[in-house]
Amino acid sequence: AAVKKYHFDVQVKNVSRLCHAKPIVTVNGRFPGPTIYVREGDRVLVNVTNYAQYNMSIHWHGLKQHRNGWADGPAYITQCPIQTGNNYVYDFNVTGQRGTLWWHAHILWLRATVHGAIVIMPKQGTPYPFSQPQMEVNLVLGEWWNADVEKIVEQGNDMGLPPNMSDAHTINGKPGPLFPCYEKHTYALEVEQGKTYLLRIVNAALNDELFFSIAGHNMTVVEVDAVYVKPFTTPTILIAPGQTTNVLVRANQAPGRYFMATRTFMDVPLPVDNKTATAILQYSGVPTTIIPVFPKLPPPNDTSFVMSYNRRLRSLNSQQFPANVPLKVDRKLFYIIGLGTNPCPTCLNGTRLTASLNNISFVMPEIALLQAHYSGINGVFTTDFPDRPPIPFNYTGVPLTANLKTAKGTRLSKIAFNSTVELVLQDTNLLTVESHPFHLHGYNFFVMGTGIGNFDPVKDPAKYNLVDPPERNTVGVPTGGWTAIRFRADNPGVWFMHCHLELHTGWGLKTAFVVEDGPAPHQAILPPPKDLPPC
Ligand code: C2O
Repeated sequence: AAVKKYHFDVQVKNVSRLCHAKPIVTVNGRFPGPTIYVREGDRVLVNVTNYAQYNMSIHWHGLKQHRNGWADGPAYITQCPIQTGNNYVYDFNVTGQRGTLWWHAHILWLRATVHGAIVIMPKQGTPYPFSQPQMEVNLVLGEWWNADVEKIVEQGNDMGLPPNMSDAHTINGKPGPLFPCYEKHTYALEVEQGKTYLLRIVNAALNDELFFSIAGHNMTVVEVDAVYVKPFTTPTILIAPGQTTNVLVRANQAPGRYFMATRTFMDVPLPVDNKTATAILQYSGVPTTIIPVFPKLPPPNDTSFVMSYNRRLRSLNSQQFPANVPLKVDRKLFYIIGLGTNPCPTCLNGTRLTASLNNISFVMPEIALLQAHYSGINGVFTTDFPDRPPIPFNYTGVPLTANLKTAKGTRLSKIAFNSTVELVLQDTNLLTVESHPFHLHGYNFFVMGTGIGNFDPVKDPAKYNLVDPPERNTVGVPTGGWTAIRFRADNPGVWFMHCHLELHTGWGLKTAFVVEDGPAPHQAILPPPKDLPPC
């Protein structure tokens, strides 16, 4: 194993897209930011120096950070932010994971522009469990705002209104030919006839689940969230914010030019989607004057495609990569997702939008939770997060007004070391039903099952996939439905769990688990690094 060192300079840079130039926060002046390349087993040191006027913290999304929450990054959860002019070295080992993950700012909405891919190669001499590609390419899907993203957040939080949506989607930071000033801002991938390409696709968008297709070409999905899956072929993938998907594509069509395209999947009525990003798959030798073929994308509300796509995701579950699904559950949790409004005298409507889990809207602390937990500082959080909603009701039926009153608090759930946890996330129609990609820090979990309507504690578990459920770090909870996950709590620390739609996170759709230390010394949280940013 090697030690890989990176320097991340957080700096403001003028960037222009859609004919609009504006200063954005970047890493090393790049948008999207640099890729981290490591091998399974490596130690990684990323020296993050903050030259921007915003406080910063960086999260290594999907890396398990075993016993090492100090390097996880969410501001006020595992560390206080890196202040302007200061630096912090994220020091972590990449163990037992290989594939594509990503990194992003984990404070305010700064991840809009501060993000990049993480490529974890298998150990030296270990081949992929699928046919070897001739070339590998990262495709980072994102969003572009003509306005200043931080202003939009303030608008959302202070006025109690949903902030403006982005102006374009992007592929590797570029919106492509459906937008003005595209000439310099179109990503093109040159391919050679007959070769196979591994595309490492990241959804770094703030608020949109995305479809992605390539005209004329099927994709073979081989990995999601840095876990191998049983390969399957599809013309379109669905990828939620936070998720990563590796696909194989063979350049086996007539030499030509083909659009790759990405646009929103949203199962709530939305304004017409005019944000479709396109990039070009260019066969070498073909004149660039030829107009590319456009792919078929599912309609924005194609829930049935999404349900059947997700059902096709299965862990590889081979001898080399077994799926160790917890079959016995020690702790059962049932969290309902609520959107609602709270009174807000200073807001435009007199109310502010709020989001909650089990009717609790999470309040960010002022001291990092992990530090408070590790050093036994009282009064920062409580561990009385309810295991289930206060009142059972018809979650996807007519809402009861009583359930609209959300409480606020920094309430966490305490989990015994090494216990097995089942968490059912249930969407509700409090205010509106919407799908939510949930992300758990510090762990992968198995996606046991998912369904529409109210979770049935008897009938639904009988249908769980106990053999080869996909193992992920981010999973969609369908609109008006539920998703059940399981994990073994073998990573002590304080681990954030939240909706990866930044809008909802900001409204309070988040909580954290305190996983207790195990009895052995190697089962306890590691001591904090000396340069951990002070609170
Ligand atoms: Cu990718 Cu807590 O986030």
